[in-house]
Amino acid sequence: MEVLKAIADRCSVREYKAEQITDDELQAIVEAARMAPSGMNARKTRLFVIQSPEVLEKTARAIAAATRAGHAEGVSAERAAAIDMDSYNFFYHAPTLLIVTSPADAYNAFADCGCVLENAMIQAAELGIGTCWVNNVRRCQKDAAVRELLTELGVAEDEIVTGSLAIGYPVHELKGKNQEKGHEVKYI
Ligand SMILES: Cc1cc2nc3c(=O)[nH]c(=O)nc-3n(C[C@H](O)[C@H](O)[C@H](O)COP(=O)(O)O)c2cc1C
Repeated sequence: MEVLKAIADRCSVREYKAEQITDDELQAIVEAARMAPSGMNARKTRLFVIQSPEVLEKTARAIAAATRAGHAEGVSAERAAAIDMDSYNFFYHAPTLLIVTSPADAYNAFADCGCVLENAMIQAAELGIGTCWVNNVRRCQKDAAVRELLTELGVAEDEIVTGSLAIGYPVHELKGKNQEKGHEVKYI
């Protein structure tokens, strides 16, 4: 499949099958992410791939509690108060979650994360696998319980979470919607 077709097919998937993606598929996605460029070739971005159902469940619960407590940066009090702790799952029950971190003082931290996650999303789309960028680990990372969990995963004290990605087989076939709209382009 051509790269442009994978880019056009990619869309945010918010309904996943419970079945895990194969190891070969995971490796292809991780390889694409791992090879992403970084500002000044710093390569300080780190990738945490979570597939353990227990850890995924623990992470979902910690983020739900942090969001409900109003500790999700940028989430309004009304929205936080409306969260149903029993059903809320910020990564839509995807069987794989990729968390991206960077040293807190890295100038290109978020741009580097964008490159990593876009590579992962496109490679996944090429395989017919769904992804969705999820901001809530980043939003909640200052919550004490979430930070403790991140430390358990191996995130260092001087690292921040810059983004995360839900990955799994989509319930519905990928159908990108940006072909017609997309971003504005001006030719000069
Ligand atoms: C930086 C960034 C952060 C995003 N955060 C979230 C998120 O927290 N939760 C979510 O469901 N979607 C998130 N998205 C997905 C966007 O909502 C989605 O890309 C956009 O609506 C366009 O739809 P498409 O991905 O299907 O083309 C994020 C996307 C980007 C690029």
